[in-house]
Amino acid sequence: MRTLALYNLKGGVGKTVSAVNLAALAARAGFKTLLWDLDPQGSAAWYLGLDREATGGMKRLARGRTPIGELIRHSPVPGLDVLAGGLSSLHLETAQAGQHALLTQLADPLAEDYHLLVYDCPAGLQAVNEAVLERADVVAVPMIPTSLSLNTYELLVHYLAKHKLTRVKLYPFLSQVDRRRGLHRTLCETLPSRMHTLLRARIPYASVVEQMGPKRLPLALFAPHSPAALAYAEMWAELSTRLKLEAPIAPPT
Ligand SMILES: Nc1ncnc2c1ncn2[C@@H]1O[C@H](COP(=O)(O)OP(=O)(O)O)[C@@H](O)[C@H]1O
Ligand SMILES: [Mg+2]
Repeated sequence: MRTLALYNLKGGVGKTVSAVNLAALAARAGFKTLLWDLDPQGSAAWYLGLDREATGGMKRLARGRTPIGELIRHSPVPGLDVLAGGLSSLHLETAQAGQHALLTQLADPLAEDYHLLVYDCPAGLQAVNEAVLERADVVAVPMIPTSLSLNTYELLVHYLAKHKLTRVKLYPFLSQVDRRRGLHRTLCETLPSRMHTLLRARIPYASVVEQMGPKRLPLALFAPHSPAALAYAEMWAELSTRLKLEAPIAPPT
């Protein structure tokens, strides 16, 4: 099982919509996919038409009283399941080392049923995010093309270096790109030479992405030919290579 995390220190940058769209594309490409919504607000699950679950499930899971399968729900996308419930509410009762162990213990059995695990992370640097970042094969970081976003990205890189989290593989990408804005155009042109892991696909600022709210579906299911959906498809192609998921695969046993 490969692991993709959508992460940024900042909120409102497109982590959740990207996690939902990329997980849907993975499932439609034939990879059995689990989207783990780690944000206690449960927005990723909500975008897939699932109602917010009582938060007690995660606590029972962490204490070993509920098997993980009982909390997994099917989504409207064939091959895409969802696990809703943040672990961050547990950080008061679990020390950081415990978060790593807990995440490993919870995620390992999923490898029997899924090719890909996609984490939608909450913003910030709580212990659960550090654990996810270290575990993920690829960490995709949506960035709105502004100076502040770049500064936040650099803060993240420094933080990871300072805390010796050297295994984290960051792949930033531009999100909510508005070509009418001069700074957006400039950064689109100059960033690729400055950030060597920047993904080529850029997600445009588009009202169709906002429509995911009222529709409660990923773009692939209601606007597959829109520029934003095509940009996500291009991004999925890039990510699947980095995740080493490009080869035809056998179904999980
Ligand atoms: N490419 C986009 N075009 C237009 N609106 C977007 C785009 N990406 C995200 N949004 C909107 O921005 C808001 C924040 O997106 P979200 O994915 O929830 O961010 P995060 O998970 O990083 O907090 C949502 O209302 C969403 O509809
Ligand atoms: Mg979010």
